[in-house]
Amino acid sequence: MSIGRGLGTGLALALAAMAAHAPLSAEDGDVVLAADTTGTPAERAAQMVAQLTREEKLTLVKGYFGGDFPPTEYVAHPDAIDGSAGFVPGIPRLGIPPQWETDAGLGVASQGTAKIKRPRTALPSGLATAATWDVELANQGGRMIGSEARADGFNVMLGGSVNLLREPRNGRNFEYAGEDPLLAGRMVGAQIAGVQANGIISTIKHYAVNDQETERGVANFLLEEDDLRMSDLLAFQFAFESGNPGSVMCAYNKLNGDYACENRFLLTQVLREEWDWPGYVMSDWGAVHSTAKAANAGLDQESGFGLQRDDHFGDKLAEAVATGEVSEERLRLMVTRILHAMFDKGVIDNPVVGDESLIDFEANRAIAQADAEAGIVLLKNAGNVLPLAGAKRIAVIGGHADKGVLSGGGSSQVYPDGENAVPGIEPTGWPGPVVWYPSSPLAELRALLPDTEILYADGSDPAAAVRLAQETDLAIVFGTQWSSESIDIPMRLDGEQDALIAAIAAASGDTVVVLETGGPVAMPWVDDVEAIVEAWYPGRMGGAAIANVLAGMVNPSGHLPATFPVALDQMPWAGEVRRGHVTYEEGATVGYKWFDARGIEPLFPFGHGLSYTSFAHRGLTARARGDGIAVKLTVTNTGEIAGGDVVQIYVSAPWAGWEAPQRLGAFAKVQLEPGESRNVELEIDPRLLARWDLAKPGWQRKAGSYTVTVGTSSRALGESVQVDLDTLHLGPGWKPGG
Ligand code: GLC
Repeated sequence: MSIGRGLGTGLALALAAMAAHAPLSAEDGDVVLAADTTGTPAERAAQMVAQLTREEKLTLVKGYFGGDFPPTEYVAHPDAIDGSAGFVPGIPRLGIPPQWETDAGLGVASQGTAKIKRPRTALPSGLATAATWDVELANQGGRMIGSEARADGFNVMLGGSVNLLREPRNGRNFEYAGEDPLLAGRMVGAQIAGVQANGIISTIKHYAVNDQETERGVANFLLEEDDLRMSDLLAFQFAFESGNPGSVMCAYNKLNGDYACENRFLLTQVLREEWDWPGYVMSDWGAVHSTAKAANAGLDQESGFGLQRDDHFGDKLAEAVATGEVSEERLRLMVTRILHAMFDKGVIDNPVVGDESLIDFEANRAIAQADAEAGIVLLKNAGNVLPLAGAKRIAVIGGHADKGVLSGGGSSQVYPDGENAVPGIEPTGWPGPVVWYPSSPLAELRALLPDTEILYADGSDPAAAVRLAQETDLAIVFGTQWSSESIDIPMRLDGEQDALIAAIAAASGDTVVVLETGGPVAMPWVDDVEAIVEAWYPGRMGGAAIANVLAGMVNPSGHLPATFPVALDQMPWAGEVRRGHVTYEEGATVGYKWFDARGIEPLFPFGHGLSYTSFAHRGLTARARGDGIAVKLTVTNTGEIAGGDVVQIYVSAPWAGWEAPQRLGAFAKVQLEPGESRNVELEIDPRLLARWDLAKPGWQRKAGSYTVTVGTSSRALGESVQVDLDTLHLGPGWKPGG
């Protein structure tokens, strides 16, 4: 039997077989192996699926948890990679490899039940990367974690988390990219593209509106369709367009009544009929609640059997196909989409070969450190107490700063080389463990400032800490907030750290607060301290990153990807995180849009971030171009040291009807030497100049004079110009470049 014949005969046979719904076999002519690289991904997938038996197709749509799971007495598939998220068997007969799946967006994670925790390079949190506003850095980070995934033998990386920060208490905010659809979508899209540059599939998740952890598995989130389109779905759309993910992970929750993984609106109407997306939908682990309803709504692959108790895409699916409740055509389509992604992303043509010697940890840590440094946000710097200079005696207090830096918990947990720098902190089991990366801000500071006496108190004895602060010129107090998947958390620092910070501030000369948090936190001491630095969960090299910013080796250039409220009562919902049927009354008015629409003064606004230098924005011009607006301006570094500026373009409509007075329309990160100027050109996407029209589905823009403003935050707005635009309607599937 000759194999791998040219496309013509093979494809003709395949298409004929498709029509007959009969799988090709050697008797029908040549078997075409996956290795036959002729044809587009779509053609190759069609050809391959036509050769598969029903049983083989059913094999490809059911995924298994990748590690043992004692609670359900589940033992992992022998071919799965131990301690990994998932595994889907391949079809050796045709050369289709298994799908080896790893979490997540911050690096190669190990599941809590892993026999060996794989030590890999942890990026800083998703919020930290978003705070860089630098799509290039996001892409580099994706390339790095994707390369480690590939070296470990994984060909699917469950990264790309783009849920909007609606709820500041969401325990998974650290995995995501903030409150604005454009910033979140573009940053996560860049990361997805980076992961997939390694010839593996990246997922985008959690689709959609899994914007809190409380009751994530059963809650029904309610949003009007137009609001949904202009918020969470728009973030996904921007990420799809810049990242082109091979797969989507449907979420645990219900949306407008149906579970996301059996929600025809999400899985078929939006993804297929409107966005014409060819990839495959995998479920979250345990998020499948039906067989025929899910398959017919558009779910292509059930994930994580073993965690997923009910086996909906195993025997039940076989039965549903046998009875016709799920058609053969539907099963063919499910498998075609999976194969399309495998062909399209290189999984088949460039098969992974696990070889961890391929990992360059030194280079990868440098990428993680650069990301962390660029994402650190200088929130306050009264009297320019930063960068540190002149202080002869410095007190460093709390936050385990002598040991390391904090990371977030759950399925995205990346374990460091060496040990957890601060082991034994509860919860040590799920959703823990609480992992501290062995990168000590204290040790790094002492190395950078050898002539400065730097003393440490862990803060467990507040009185001793206060005494130490009184004996020094300046106190640096670390404040931490641990967060994790499956829980929501108070919008505050853990334990009694607020009281400790207040006591130190009252006692010391100058006080600098360094925050390591999963998201926005209240700061009751904000007026009592001279400087505040938000370092987020700064990743494997976080201590070095923090020290470099404090000591001035790095000029901070991070800007907030999320509003920091003064208190929860400024938010759309200040009560207990909601359960059951949850109507997100704010609709698309998320984050700064809420604060702007109601004239509320936040603690620190979206887009805020200080620098050790200064920038000027001049010569703003804007004009209609294509369906959007072209913007130009000149950015100048007017200070004495090099730095990175985040140019933010906000746009306002001349008519009521938008969800907020202004929207982020475009952004760019610009690195400039002292005195250097750069002409910057940006483009405002037409969907950000319109609103979703329910009557005539699509993006409806009204004619009028639109205001384009450059800002250094959503509340620090500079020059504005007007642009006259005509009315315009764009269909639901409109995307740049058609
Ligand atoms: C988890 C998470 C998801 C993760 C998956 C595999 O429950 O919700 O983000 O990728 O299961 O670990």
